[in-house]
Amino acid sequence: MIQNLFKTEIFNGQIEGHIPQEYKEEIKIIQSNYNSVTISNRGGYQSPVLQPKGALIDLFDQNMPYPLGLLKESYGVKQELRLQGFWVNVNKSSDYNIAHVHPGCVFSGVFYLKAPKDSGSILFHSPYGDMVEYSNQVRKLSTVFHTTWKIPVQRGLLLLFPSWMKHSVELSNTDSERISLAFNYGW
Ligand SMILES: [Fe+2]
Repeated sequence: MIQNLFKTEIFNGQIEGHIPQEYKEEIKIIQSNYNSVTISNRGGYQSPVLQPKGALIDLFDQNMPYPLGLLKESYGVKQELRLQGFWVNVNKSSDYNIAHVHPGCVFSGVFYLKAPKDSGSILFHSPYGDMVEYSNQVRKLSTVFHTTWKIPVQRGLLLLFPSWMKHSVELSNTDSERISLAFNYGW
């Protein structure tokens, strides 16, 4: 039989339709109420970890149960997960995020409210490390044999992934803001 030992699945989906203006208004309030922190971000604005209020409660309540359910099924997580917190990211030209993981949680994610052209893709880093370089013959055939996997970002994109999966964000090459919410689910 085939036994899957080191599975790495993520959710890659799109929230279709209009993004309510109330979301952006909540984000503006957060930006004016909290100074930026520096964690994985190099430049840009990153809020401290917060709990959603107002319209942002709807964003999480309406959009997260489905992808979270898929990932729980995929990774065999039986327990209820709670939103541990979220934070706002606003990046402009020359801003980027170094490779990092989200410690102390189970699944993490990011939702893009605004993602202009040239604002930088997100990169997931293979947990297999340099081992994947052995397999040039099959690199083009699947997502398995790559050291990183790049996902171009666009408005409405929702990604969820296991929190141990290392990721980074490319440098933005536009003065137009990329706005995203990142978040963690855990116990
Ligand atoms: Fe992150």
